Amino acid sequence: MITTKELKNKYLEFFKSKKHAIIESASLIPEHDPTVLFTTAGMHPLVPFLMGQEHPLGKRLADFQKCIRTGDIEHVGDASHLTFFEMLGNWSLGDYFKKEAIEWSYEFLTEWLKFDPEKLSVTVFAGDKDAPKDEESANIWKSLGIPEKRIYYLPKEDNWWGPAGATGPCGPCTEMFIDTGKRRCSPECRPGCSCGKYFEIWNDVFMEYNKVSEKKFEKLKQKNVDTGMGVERTVAMMNGVDNVYEIDAFAPIIDKIKELAKVDNFTHEQLRSVRIIADHMRASTFILGDERGVTPSNLDQGYILRRFIRRSIRHGRLLGIESDLCIPIAKVIIRLYKPDYPELNDKKKLILDELVKEEERFRETLEKGLREFEKIAEKGDISAKDAFLLFQSYGFPFEITRELASEKGLKVDEKGFDKEFKKHQELSRTGAAGRFKGGLSEASEITAKLHTATHLLGEALRVVLKNKDIKQKGSNITPERLRYDFSFDRKLTDEEKKKVEDLVNKKIKQGLEVKKEEMLLDKAIKSGAQAEFGAKYPPKVFVYSIGDFSKEICMGPHVENIKELGHFKIKKEESIAAGVRRIKAVLE
Ligand code: ALA
Repeated sequence: MITTKELKNKYLEFFKSKKHAIIESASLIPEHDPTVLFTTAGMHPLVPFLMGQEHPLGKRLADFQKCIRTGDIEHVGDASHLTFFEMLGNWSLGDYFKKEAIEWSYEFLTEWLKFDPEKLSVTVFAGDKDAPKDEESANIWKSLGIPEKRIYYLPKEDNWWGPAGATGPCGPCTEMFIDTGKRRCSPECRPGCSCGKYFEIWNDVFMEYNKVSEKKFEKLKQKNVDTGMGVERTVAMMNGVDNVYEIDAFAPIIDKIKELAKVDNFTHEQLRSVRIIADHMRASTFILGDERGVTPSNLDQGYILRRFIRRSIRHGRLLGIESDLCIPIAKVIIRLYKPDYPELNDKKKLILDELVKEEERFRETLEKGLREFEKIAEKGDISAKDAFLLFQSYGFPFEITRELASEKGLKVDEKGFDKEFKKHQELSRTGAAGRFKGGLSEASEITAKLHTATHLLGEALRVVLKNKDIKQKGSNITPERLRYDFSFDRKLTDEEKKKVEDLVNKKIKQGLEVKKEEMLLDKAIKSGAQAEFGAKYPPKVFVYSIGDFSKEICMGPHVENIKELGHFKIKKEESIAAGVRRIKAVLE
């Protein structure tokens, strides 16, 4: 039985032997990509480097990355779909390309994981108006002994990956499949078919394009490699189980849910509930415990988190769990994952406190809401107005209403609900997938400016409030505004806010240069560079200085001279937790 840990170790060892630096899993909450809510793949945090920015650890990187994809949330509960998962990846940032990437994939699969080369099939890009047929990859596979009949040429829908958001780095890919030995479902069955005969184990993406708009692809400055191997799925497959919930990383969570449930023999439906809880509680624990963690709310990531938690509670109820569902399960998850994700342990108290609060809040209205639903359902299909009432008065996220309705064979007006919902969201203009229509590249210029402005703001706060110990506790940038969280224990006065604005604007007028230096982490800290509280940094980092006003450890990107920033204005200052304040500000 190979464990999750063993697979991860082997992978990182292998790529270390190929001179890759191992990087830490980045935050689940993307900092510089306003077009998506969560990190959906290992490449996501690396986008600036795929675009050509220099990475402090070099041109060859490998890691395991925590990811969340909500696109398949409706399928969670079957044997294989997950929202939260870990992904192994290796990257070339303008260094090696197809030959090495494919040869190393082959070597790792056949020599390190001991897959029979005869069972390996691959797909390559068939070519279209945006990019040519990938003969080069096909020839490399042939040189390794994969016969033509096991090489499949597929179109963009199958063999093109990215961008992670609306725009950005992407390219043709070659996917590797293991023949599981099952019978072909039809004569047309081929890699990519979902019948279970072919298991997709790894994806090598050759990112040499930049998607700049809906239909336009340009060549990137450099040729990159981005690969992805899903940890849970691969471990399940290697152990001969076709159900991810049976692997070592899930078994203790499932056991705990079964222990809490007052059921002896699970029906098929109840088993689905068990899996939904296991998946959603993993996602919730990781979102709360993220280094840039958020708490349940009705906005953006906070709303997704709320949906995960509340849906778990409702499925718990179907198993007879009427109280205290979240904490025991989250504790198991923290224990399992803290060696690889120490942030879960650092934030344990916050995770558990927030889960208790959310569970209490939802249980207060759950019973009444269910009764209200019964009344509404008597009339037939559920209107947008009723679905919204269930949300607003009883805290039922849309999925819960949809599930309850489908159990009765009723439909819910989803479009209408979305409309109602958006009308009620505060600052957020759009929902889950596409927040900023213009996409990443259009947004990147303005986000770089806002990002540089956060450095000025941090320093201005330390100066104006005469407190050198003020630390950044988080940051989030959308094209509309910056958000900056910092340690401070009281409200700022209007006069202080004005002074902070004035100082930032004075610096902007001075037109200071932004300078970037590469340094060892220890040296950077000793040199007095600011670091984000609780953030994970690699041993070698970049330090950005703005004149001699500010100096911070940071990955960038930044503007070259701050005179480009325009006028800085604080829009809001509030408390978000004990001792933590949040400022929202804009550049006009
Ligand atoms: N980014 C690629 C994927 O997620 C490797 O499949």
